[in-house]
Amino acid sequence: MTTDIKIAENISNGLTKEDQKNVIEVLVSVLADQHVLYVKLRNFHWNLKGARFHSLHEFFEQQYTALEKAIDETAERIRMLGGVAPGSMSEFLSAATLKEAAGNIIDGDDAISSLVTDNETVIRFLREKSGMVEDDFNDVATADFLVELLQKHEQDAWMLRSFSEIS
Ligand SMILES: [Fe+2]
Repeated sequence: MTTDIKIAENISNGLTKEDQKNVIEVLVSVLADQHVLYVKLRNFHWNLKGARFHSLHEFFEQQYTALEKAIDETAERIRMLGGVAPGSMSEFLSAATLKEAAGNIIDGDDAISSLVTDNETVIRFLREKSGMVEDDFNDVATADFLVELLQKHEQDAWMLRSFSEIS
């Protein structure tokens, strides 16, 4: 992680300064990965080709529309905790664990497989970090927020796998 964690406000919410910074750092990574995934879903929505175009085109739109809401909630949670939400593509890319995909024509199974991989990466990250945020950084509220995101990504990964024609 190379993004600087910026603190805007001192708040008295029971977290130490260090815990506050550690929790915000996790949320910044989550927000960065959400943006990479969001752009990738739009990319595949546009550049998809093949017999399943219609269903997958719509399905990717549903997923990025749901992700928009999650992005907003993550950024606003960073602000609630006194942090500054990153706001530029370069900040997102430096804090993300996911890799972008360039715009290229893609078939359904390649798009699905890339999105399943990304969702599973996010699931593993959220599983590890939600435990850490609760046990080591003493923030049960953010841990709860991360667990809810984790459940959503598990559902997304399952639906994507179910669309795959490769077993
Ligand atoms: Fe569209």
